Amino acid sequence: MALKSSRVAFERTRRSVGGGVGSGLRAAMRPHPLFVREARGAHVWDLDGDRYVDYVMAWGPLVLGHSDPRVLSAVSATATKMQVVGTGHALEYLAAEAVLEAVPHGERLLWSNTGTEAVQVALRLARAATGRRRVLKFAKSYHGWHDTVHAGMAETDGDQPAAPGGRGQSSSVLDDLVIARFNDVRLARQILIEAVERDIAAVLIDPVMSNAGVETPSPEFLSTLRTLCDRHGVVLIFDEVIAGFRIARGGAAEKYGVLPDLSVFGKAMTGGFTQSAVVGRAELIDQVTAGVVHAGTFNANPVALAAVEATMRALADPVVYQTLEEISSEFDTVVGGILGSVPDGGSFNRVGSLLQYVPPGANTGLHGTGGLWTTILEGMLHHGFLFMPSGKVFLSTAHTTSDIEATAGALERLLRRT
Ligand SMILES: Cc1ncc(COP(=O)(O)O)c(C=O)c1O
Repeated sequence: MALKSSRVAFERTRRSVGGGVGSGLRAAMRPHPLFVREARGAHVWDLDGDRYVDYVMAWGPLVLGHSDPRVLSAVSATATKMQVVGTGHALEYLAAEAVLEAVPHGERLLWSNTGTEAVQVALRLARAATGRRRVLKFAKSYHGWHDTVHAGMAETDGDQPAAPGGRGQSSSVLDDLVIARFNDVRLARQILIEAVERDIAAVLIDPVMSNAGVETPSPEFLSTLRTLCDRHGVVLIFDEVIAGFRIARGGAAEKYGVLPDLSVFGKAMTGGFTQSAVVGRAELIDQVTAGVVHAGTFNANPVALAAVEATMRALADPVVYQTLEEISSEFDTVVGGILGSVPDGGSFNRVGSLLQYVPPGANTGLHGTGGLWTTILEGMLHHGFLFMPSGKVFLSTAHTTSDIEATAGALERLLRRT
């Protein structure tokens, strides 16, 4: 793959778009972002017409692969009738019913556009319900780019102040965060016992640490958080922006059998379009009729909700999760097997169709693994395989055994040369 047109396109984009990328994290693509002209199933085609097997899947959303015909036909049928109307339409309840049907604790929902936004809404609901201010979250977890949650990634024992996640962020909101360690039951207990004194309104957790190593919760971690939240009047929020509708139809709640008060969903829910939701207990959600502000011009827009309804109906077929599990397990065994066959090759952590490359003995951080993964990222791109800079791998129902065998073959040849 020559990547020639992508290189030229990136240079041109940099002249009109800050950093040359639509989202800052994409700047980590090496040697530069691939410029795509078409995307179907498990594949994308670049501006030169070269085809790639895509393991990025738009950074998570595409559980059914690119351009799923069911989603496209629902979107086309709606888009020719209306686009955004700023008032009620039937897809508001049709899509909501399809989402609530899948989520074990789904009594009611609120629509918003991105995961970042939905997290903010969930926190506002928790603060309104408890009359408290602070949020317990876990080191290295990512909950969107907003100042209120985008904190430095350092591990703390809950007493050290959080650092801003980047320049230009407000430091005054950081005191709202209490940062603990994922899977540290003892520390969570120690902090939550003092929830009233510490003014803690919510526990915000990505139950599988999607952006920091794909670490699964220990058997007692989520259930202990549930018990402690109940005991100390704290709202338990699962951030399932990546995990939701990907690791299971009912997300982390279904997979681990622990029901939060609220869950935040985004990516996979909309099959490639833009919409997110806060889902959970009616009593919490209904606070929007009692002074909690939740707004957005593009919330619940018909085109996105047509995509949500079609995607959620497609995901209701149990074959989807069976297929995802089979193909993801095959990827782990076959491609992971190639890594395992070379010294210091590393391995994958896997929860369902979400995988994370882990270098030997390493504790992966957020959005970047370096070392051998950088070699793999760049080397595989030249042979027609698109991976993420962070080492995360997303599978879809559109990936096939032949994609995986081709990936393994190319990886083996690459590593033999390295
Ligand atoms: C766990 C998690 N929460 C929230 C977000 C923010 O979602 P968005 O990028 O749609 O704002 C992300 C994005 O990757 C995420 O992975």
